Amino acid sequence: MTLPPFPTTRLRRLRATPALRSMVRESALSPADFIWPVFVMEGTDAEEPVASMPGVMRRTVDRIGAAAREAYAMGIPAICIFPYTTMDARTEDCALAWSPDNIANRAIAEIKKAVPDMAVMTDIALDPYNINGHDGFVENGEIVNDRTVEALVKMALVQAEMGADILGPSDMMDGRVGAIRTALESAGHQKVTILSYTAKYASAFYGPFRDAVGASSALTGDKNTYQMDPANSDEAMRLVARDIAEGADMIMVKPGMPYLDIVRRVKTEFGVPTFAYQVSGEYAMMQAAAQNGWLDHDKVMMESLMCFKRAGCDGVLTYFAPAAAKLLNG
Ligand code: PBG
Repeated sequence: MTLPPFPTTRLRRLRATPALRSMVRESALSPADFIWPVFVMEGTDAEEPVASMPGVMRRTVDRIGAAAREAYAMGIPAICIFPYTTMDARTEDCALAWSPDNIANRAIAEIKKAVPDMAVMTDIALDPYNINGHDGFVENGEIVNDRTVEALVKMALVQAEMGADILGPSDMMDGRVGAIRTALESAGHQKVTILSYTAKYASAFYGPFRDAVGASSALTGDKNTYQMDPANSDEAMRLVARDIAEGADMIMVKPGMPYLDIVRRVKTEFGVPTFAYQVSGEYAMMQAAAQNGWLDHDKVMMESLMCFKRAGCDGVLTYFAPAAAKLLNG
């Protein structure tokens, strides 16, 4: 047999025109893929920019309903609330964390009132309320597990009571998903879902977020005894198995872009609803490069988001949500 003079398999054939490319495109991106993280603060009728996250604002609770309504109108189905707390609101016992009157809980009610059909997601961890910035109680320099879980359960119940649809335990304590699920069931909140921050790594990419929520000056030490070692992958699979067994509905990998291998493993090995968090540092570095004219803002934004879908994500938490939805809607 003589070989043909040219390749018979020319993969470029299907790349030749926009029509052909669109026919064979394997992944798609839509505003329905986004969960939009927002920052709320005390006060009335105000907003202020987050310096390390160009384009991101902190808003007072009375302004969050309008922002949510706009996002929902663009096709973004879910919003995730983070509170900005100053040092004077932080205590060692973190009591503000489970107060129905804290700004995060008031924001839940505000959004449900403004856009009842939008899914409202919360963050469950003590760090916005803790004097030392940790996600759990600190005793003798140690972040204690079980006492923290009891407090997280109190947070979860109040959030469910305020109308949250999706609870996001982001603390990385052991046993919290099971404890929260059991408490929700016995309190009659069977329909409240849990999107567990299952594989949350001890990452330097959270820097700008800690700025945004007022935690960078609070944090003493690091989070390495509870958040995951960036070197580990098998451990993430053990965490996924455990969280599903404990009653999580959805799984999150965090950060996003540097951890897409973990996303792919979760999707392939478990076939569960899988999300990734494109965190503050990922957002900040793309924005900074774009502002310098070193990267094309819209193109890197869309490429980075599409890559989450290709890797196996069902959705992405991203600060780009409104900007990307706007582009997608044309
Ligand atoms: C804290 C929490 C963090 C983020 C979400 N929830 C920071 C941390 O663990 O220190 C980070 C989000 C981001 O960087 O965008 N429970």
